[in-house]
Amino acid sequence: MNNYRIGERFLINEDKVVVYLGGNKFVAFERYCPHLRCDLFKYGVIIGDEVICQCHFTHFSLTDGKPIKGATNKPLRVYKVINEGETLKLL
Ligand code: FES
Repeated sequence: MNNYRIGERFLINEDKVVVYLGGNKFVAFERYCPHLRCDLFKYGVIIGDEVICQCHFTHFSLTDGKPIKGATNKPLRVYKVINEGETLKLL
């Protein structure tokens, strides 16, 4: 059991965004969009298995970080999240 609310987001080391999806599921990705470095902590929206940067509407896969459509061909770094109870580990 954890104390996160579904959709809650927080930062790790100021440069990685973690979002709680419910159950034991989290997603994590780099904070700054690889296009023009918009802050995805503020401007990133998660829909399904994509995070969308609202600055220029690039869609990135949360599976492998590849841009699906939008303003850049550069991938977003995504992390695998391991929930160890008291701590989260990003790989
Ligand atoms: S800064 Fe994110 S799409 Fe342009």
